[in-house]
Amino acid sequence: MKIDLHTHSKTSSSRAFLVSDFHKKVSVALQKKLDAFVQLEHLHAADFFEFSGFLKVNYRYEKDYYLLDGLKVFVGVEVSVSEKHDIVLIGRREDIVSAAQELFQRQSGKSKETTGDYISAEELIRVCGGFELIKILAHPFRHNKTVDLSKKVTEGLDAVEINSNEISNHGEYAERERVERLADKLGVSVSGGSDAHNPARVGCVVSVFDSDCSTIGEIKEALATSRVEVYTKK
Ligand SMILES: [Fe+2]
Repeated sequence: MKIDLHTHSKTSSSRAFLVSDFHKKVSVALQKKLDAFVQLEHLHAADFFEFSGFLKVNYRYEKDYYLLDGLKVFVGVEVSVSEKHDIVLIGRREDIVSAAQELFQRQSGKSKETTGDYISAEELIRVCGGFELIKILAHPFRHNKTVDLSKKVTEGLDAVEINSNEISNHGEYAERERVERLADKLGVSVSGGSDAHNPARVGCVVSVFDSDCSTIGEIKEALATSRVEVYTKK
C-alpha cells in the first residue's frame, strides 16, 4: 500500500480552505497511483473544525477512512508543541475531532507566533492516551532543531518522518541518514510524507507498506513492525 502520511489541503494555515484545492489533491494522488493519503491541517489553522465537518457531510466513510474514487483518505491533525516540534496525529475521524478539541482548549487557540504558549509534548502525549492515535514526529530536524524530548514522549511515538521539504533543503541521502539514525536511537519506525501544501506535491514522498491497511490499528501495526519503505519521487 502506497500512502502519503503527511498532506495538507491549504497553501497556508491562515488561508481559508478551498474545496477545489482538496479535489485537486485527490486527482493528483490518483494520477500518481497512491492508494491513500492522510489529510492533515494544523491545529491552529483557520477553519480546522469546519473542514472536518465538510468531509463528514460530503464523503463516504468506511472503516477508518473516507473513500474517494477508490482512494483512501485518512485524517489527522498536526500539533505544534512548546519544544518547537510538530507532531502529526492520525486517527479515526471522531477521535481526531475529540483530541483536537481537547488540545485546542488547552492551547487556548494560541497563534503560531506565540509558540511559548503551546502545550508541551508530554501533555500532548497524555491527552492522546485517551484515543487510538498514530503519533509521528514530523520533520524532526527542520530549522536545525535537535531532538531532545523526554522518554515519556519518545515512547509514545510511532515514527519519525522523512519529509520532502527537508530533502529539498539537505538532499535525500542526508535526510534519510539522520532520520533513520534517530529512528534507531528511539526504537521507532521511519515514515514518509510530502508535507504538501500545494496539491501538485502530494505523493513526492510516500510510505509503502507490504500490506493493505484499512484501519488505524493496521497502520500502527505496519509501522511497529517496520514493514515500511519510504520512496521519493520528483
Ligand atoms: Fe505539515
